[in-house]
Amino acid sequence: MAKYKRTVSLIDPPEKYRGPWVKEDFVKHCPHLFQGGTTVLDVGCGSADIKGFLSEGVTYIGIDHIGDIRDHLSEKMAEIFIEQFPEIINNPDIVCDAGSVPLEDGCADTIMALGLDVLGVPGAISEIKRLLKDGGRFVFQGSSEYFCDNNIRTRLRDSGFHIEEEFRQVLKYPGDNHRLVYYICTLN
Ligand SMILES: C[S@@+](CC[C@H](N)C(=O)[O-])C[C@H]1O[C@@H](n2cnc3c(N)ncnc32)[C@H](O)[C@@H]1O
Repeated sequence: MAKYKRTVSLIDPPEKYRGPWVKEDFVKHCPHLFQGGTTVLDVGCGSADIKGFLSEGVTYIGIDHIGDIRDHLSEKMAEIFIEQFPEIINNPDIVCDAGSVPLEDGCADTIMALGLDVLGVPGAISEIKRLLKDGGRFVFQGSSEYFCDNNIRTRLRDSGFHIEEEFRQVLKYPGDNHRLVYYICTLN
């Protein structure tokens, strides 16, 4: 079986369980995915917090099937919501399902699915393959336990991806480390 490059980042988490600092660390360790002039598509972007860590030359497109909840709240309620739950406010550029994305073939240099199991979303893998530029990279991130329990490495390979690199983040909580895995893939 082919070997691939592995890198690890050890993180002493600040106050929160997870936060934007996880994304900041990922961007810092994998700069080749976010070079100036590239188009980055974030599938299931949620709050799109990674956007704040990308350089100005990167075109970021976040998609999510849930739009900005503030569009459905009064100004006062929106203010309260943002104050209490800033990290869970969705902020997609396009509201759509990952299985049907209204973008052109080959438009993205890097496609990321961070915390969204696209293997379980009907049509999502075909869309990722359609949208990925020749020579582009697909990044799939999840917790190490989830990836192991769901046989993600084999399923990615069976879906036509070649795993080029594995980046791991170890979040060192007292007595209980939490591991995030990023498989960085090309198309076979
Ligand atoms: C665990 S959150 C991860 C958010 C973000 N990527 C992050 O790392 O912070 C998963 C996101 O995927 C979105 N999602 C779930 N199913 C989806 C689908 N079928 N199409 C598009 N987005 C989806 C959810 O609305 C949610 O925002």
